[in-house]
Amino acid sequence: MSEAREVLETSEAQIAVHWKEEEYVYPPATFIAQANMTDPGIYERFSLERFPECFKEYADLLDWDQYWHTTLDTSDAPCWKWFVGGKLNASYNCVDRHLAKGKNKAALIFVPEPEDEPHRVVTYQDLYVQVNEVAALLQDYAGLKAGDRVTIHMPMVPELPVTMLACARLGVIHSVVFAGFSGRACGERIADSGSRVLISMDGYYRNGTLLDHKVKADEALQVAAQEGQAVEKVLVWRRFRGQYVSQAPMREGRDAFMDELLPKYRGQRVAPVSMPAEAPLFLMYTSGTTGRPKGCQHSTGGYLAYVTATAKYVLDIHPEDVYWCMADIGWITGHSYIVYGPLALGTASVLYEGVPTYPDAGRPWRIAEQLGVDIFHTAPTSIRMLRKAGPEEPKKYNYRFKLMVTVGEPIEPDVWRWYHEVVGKGQAVIVDTWWQTETGGFLCSTMPALHPMKPGSAGPAMPGIHPVIYDEEGQEIPPGAGKAGNICIRNPWPGAFQTIWGDRERYVSTYYAKYCKNKDSKDWRDWPYFTGDGAFQAADGYYRILGRVDDVINVAGHRLGTKELESAALTVEEVAEAAVVPVVDELKGRAPDMYVSLKPGYAPSKAIEEKVIQAIETIIGKIARPKHVYIVPDMPKTRSGKIMRRVLAAISNTMDVGDVTTLANPEVVEEVRRMVQGERAVATQEGPEDIRRFGEER
Ligand code: WT7
Repeated sequence: MSEAREVLETSEAQIAVHWKEEEYVYPPATFIAQANMTDPGIYERFSLERFPECFKEYADLLDWDQYWHTTLDTSDAPCWKWFVGGKLNASYNCVDRHLAKGKNKAALIFVPEPEDEPHRVVTYQDLYVQVNEVAALLQDYAGLKAGDRVTIHMPMVPELPVTMLACARLGVIHSVVFAGFSGRACGERIADSGSRVLISMDGYYRNGTLLDHKVKADEALQVAAQEGQAVEKVLVWRRFRGQYVSQAPMREGRDAFMDELLPKYRGQRVAPVSMPAEAPLFLMYTSGTTGRPKGCQHSTGGYLAYVTATAKYVLDIHPEDVYWCMADIGWITGHSYIVYGPLALGTASVLYEGVPTYPDAGRPWRIAEQLGVDIFHTAPTSIRMLRKAGPEEPKKYNYRFKLMVTVGEPIEPDVWRWYHEVVGKGQAVIVDTWWQTETGGFLCSTMPALHPMKPGSAGPAMPGIHPVIYDEEGQEIPPGAGKAGNICIRNPWPGAFQTIWGDRERYVSTYYAKYCKNKDSKDWRDWPYFTGDGAFQAADGYYRILGRVDDVINVAGHRLGTKELESAALTVEEVAEAAVVPVVDELKGRAPDMYVSLKPGYAPSKAIEEKVIQAIETIIGKIARPKHVYIVPDMPKTRSGKIMRRVLAAISNTMDVGDVTTLANPEVVEEVRRMVQGERAVATQEGPEDIRRFGEER
């Protein structure tokens, strides 16, 4: 049990929160002495009265080809446009502008998973050369130009940021799909984004195995074709130059190896295309409550300004730091805080190919020691995993972190303390950064040299971010009220996504409809941004995030749409109905528990359970693997025929199922409960807030 001792009670519409307030932990003087942000006046400068002009301070961290005339244009509310009239290039800002002072400095340090394979350092000069050559190839060989979309399905290798920056140099919109996602998931994203080109890789190491990745490209193209999107070219990077490690055939005329094409472009330079600030830089797909993933569209100027400033002030990145974020570039954390933010600041960003516990739980600390990493960034799921597999390992290595980050899900105070005392050796400052794919960068975090830390709390809002917590009726819940509600942001900010690619209506209805004060208004004050997270604010202004309030499961810090998982289960011939719920998992935070009922004439079997797991792994990816598959005689349903996921979630988490007498089939609940919890009634646990609210009808 976590030391948080949080007890949550529901009283009708309101949610009361009582838990022990944690003690403050103060940043060491040595950290404060060298920090980038030590001026408490920043919060005053970014007050609502100074909005939106305050964000000029962030934009001024970039090099602009042309200055903007309008800081915030709200005429197309709620699609906000930042720094209108301004022009810049993201690859110029992340690469070219560092050459004068730091061309021989490391930009990327690649750590292959096999420990006997040497590290590869890519200097800013190397990065400049490679980005230019790849941009020349994309332009000439693949015929790509500003505004085109390209899907990139690649693992954690330096060629991934090189490819992203080459796209950015041309104004081509990249859509990076996490390598762990299946070919099918990749294909759906290719189709949604309308990509004519897929950039892939032959294989990569994961947990000691050289995985075949190119096979997924073939499947992706088939799926994209079924959805009406033809892909003309597949560009394939190779893990080892001149050697192909995939079993998948190369299709003549369609597929080509990057290492064979590149010599033709040796020495070529491509002038960075000066892009309007509000031109899209990339799409990042994320799960929502309905099946289709949402392509979050991020801008060039606003996004880059926001991630650069937050990386500088919250991650405290200086050019001479060695910064390591263990996330995958295939998620937003990697885009903002492995690639764009750190490179815009001219620092060395470490890229690790594999899993943190390979070949043992000492690996991250050996890497930190060898490379002199001083800023370390990861998620609670990895911290829990490393603590479990090697609680004493960090002590064996001689590294020193000045700052550590946690992101992706709430961190339990006892996990926080292990991170602080053992990983951080009691010396590192921790920032708990709360944000989302949609928000581009941090929304809440302590400013590391200005605020004390509080284990389990993200901290106050970032400068220029003005949250509000609303109850279901739209009443504001004040700080210290001891009640949780829906956390929203009152104002737009430059890092926010611009829309959902090709689906403005869904953008408005998902994020702005709930608390909109006037849908015809062009005034941002009428359009609070709905994050979908439950939270409460303590009297000191610190926010504690409780997790998703909608039907999305946060597995190891990543959102999975319940509908996506359920439709995958329904592809199994025998399955009639499927319902997925989150179950508390010691390592991943939450894992999916899958309930299925069978079509008439089929009997439950282990083989069917296996098929369901297989279907989810191939359609979505291994990350979505259910913790359990329960084949149930029927689903608990309302009289109108809706599956009661709330009841199943309670069963999975040994919580009380509550009053089920109004259901169409209350007897099924007891049957399923026995199946999962056993004969004895064990359901006494209160359960965490996000699970209590999961599947709630709204
Ligand atoms: C959801 C967003 C942000 C990059 C990684 C995940 C949860 C994120 C925290 C945190 C508590 C957090 C929220 C959020 N979350 N960071 N520090 N404390 N919860 O991006 O897949 O878009 O997921 O992750 O529930 O809404 P994502």
